Amino acid sequence: MLLRPFDIGESAIFERTGPLVFEAGFGDGSFLVHLARAHPAWNILGADVSRGSISRAFRRVSRAGVDRVRLFQGKAEFLLRNVVPENGLFRMYVNFPDPWPKKRHRDRRLLKPPFLALLSTRLADQGTLLLTTDDAAYFTQAVDDAKKSGWYTVSEPAPPAAALRTKYARKWNVLQRPVYHACLTKVGASAESFPRTATRVAMHHALLTGPLPRLEAFEPFRRRLADGHIIVLGALTRVGDGAILFEVRIEEDDLTQEILIEAKRAHAAQADVIVTVSTFGRPLLTRGTREAVRAITAWLNERGLNTVETYF
Ligand SMILES: C[S@@+](CC[C@H](N)C(=O)[O-])C[C@H]1O[C@@H](n2cnc3c(N)ncnc32)[C@H](O)[C@@H]1O
Repeated sequence: MLLRPFDIGESAIFERTGPLVFEAGFGDGSFLVHLARAHPAWNILGADVSRGSISRAFRRVSRAGVDRVRLFQGKAEFLLRNVVPENGLFRMYVNFPDPWPKKRHRDRRLLKPPFLALLSTRLADQGTLLLTTDDAAYFTQAVDDAKKSGWYTVSEPAPPAAALRTKYARKWNVLQRPVYHACLTKVGASAESFPRTATRVAMHHALLTGPLPRLEAFEPFRRRLADGHIIVLGALTRVGDGAILFEVRIEEDDLTQEILIEAKRAHAAQADVIVTVSTFGRPLLTRGTREAVRAITAWLNERGLNTVETYF
């Protein structure tokens, strides 16, 4: 039921066909359970960036015993781009998206022109986005952007009753705040095709000669990527084989991964050390993980090890 980045594109995510529906930012997952119960034929994807949301929704969906819901911890943009086929989405729901009211944070909003462009390529003809929000400014902006794009017609029917019972809906209801609802129907698509970004990169490693340094202190460091960055947060020595494990956070495009990179004894005649991505947590091997191996290799070079072979 949980989708991890390594699942993306590996196999059919649902073992059967059916209208594909997506909720972005599902919070506690109650709306997903409602959808699954109300529409037994639907295949339902959910994405939420918050770890807390994932565990709450996981428990709720498991308890409800519905088996056609797949949860992803990460950005809805990533899942939409990498899992949903072109013209393959019947409906998207966005209930009470984070409003990011400060002007300088507007870019963090989900429903902004690049997202509407991507969505226009993934929605089926006449497919819909149902937006429900308490934030008038967000609502007006999203509706204006959708109309301006030329890819959607916009209507403002009454919201689905269940969208008024989500955790946030109930919160705003207590405060008697008005709720706005729009239905965006796809009538055209962006010319940009938005190909998948989660292409697997082959295993990457480096072989080095020289002894691994003793870890007495460690300064976190950061490297820029074309579409994000890598932060090497810490390093620890493994009891037993003395390998160094580097804790690395990689943010690239819409995907964030926390991974381990190992520098350990190489079983090769020409090298003492191999630097490679640990399989721990089964990360998706991407350009970002490759650049992280490169950055750790350079860190070891600065500490006297020589690179004898790289496979990047
Ligand atoms: C205000 S809450 C609303 C939750 C739920 N829909 C409800 O009505 O109770 C917004 C949710 O969107 C999630 N979120 C924010 N940006 C996101 C993104 N880019 N992709 C997926 N989820 C996102 C947050 O983690 C949070 O759970």
